[in-house]
Amino acid sequence: MTPEEPASDNDPTHCPTLRVVPMPADTNVAGDIFGGWILSQIDIAGSVVAHRRARGRVITVAVNAVQFHKPVFVGDLVSLYADVVRVGTTSITVDVTVYAERFRNDTHAQRVRVTEATLTYVAMGPDRRPRPVPPEDPDAEPHP
Ligand SMILES: CC(C)(COP(=O)(O)OP(=O)(O)OC[C@H]1O[C@@H](n2cnc3c(N)ncnc32)[C@H](O)[C@@H]1OP(=O)(O)O)[C@@H](O)C(=O)NCCC(=O)NCCS
Repeated sequence: MTPEEPASDNDPTHCPTLRVVPMPADTNVAGDIFGGWILSQIDIAGSVVAHRRARGRVITVAVNAVQFHKPVFVGDLVSLYADVVRVGTTSITVDVTVYAERFRNDTHAQRVRVTEATLTYVAMGPDRRPRPVPPEDPDAEPHP
């Protein structure tokens, strides 16, 4: 799938980790949504699944990669899908894929894969130092 194509065939099957609608205050000087706003939402979505996997506080240690495929516009419905892809001793790496649903008129919406990123979080102890990520909880609710 190229970034220009509608994303329906490769849409994640699970629910988005985060859904948000950007406002006019989130634009850059060109009127598109500011990349920093998108990165902020990505960091929040990634931290949700990292926190769940770590069963406690995490902190972002690295944004390993980010690619902005297509712009985001005011009023798009932005859906962020975050998945844990690697668990280290104290670190958790998460892939985040972002889709924008654009409502061109009352009857037609287009869904576009706009951004992909990989981030690493570190599980933090009460002493603000890295702590080991606990084993996966076998009784945990499945990721929605
Ligand atoms: C996160 C922090 C506590 C890690 O401290 P540290 O002394 O580097 O700890 P370590 O070297 O033990 O690294 C901890 C884990 O992070 C991983 N890590 C460190 N730097 C990394 C990087 N650039 N990319 C990916 N992983 C990294 C290490 O590999 C290690 O993972 P592992 O235990 O699974 O092997 C420290 O770097 C920190 O406080 N950073 C600031 C975080 C912050 O403020 N985030 C918000 C930014 S706005």
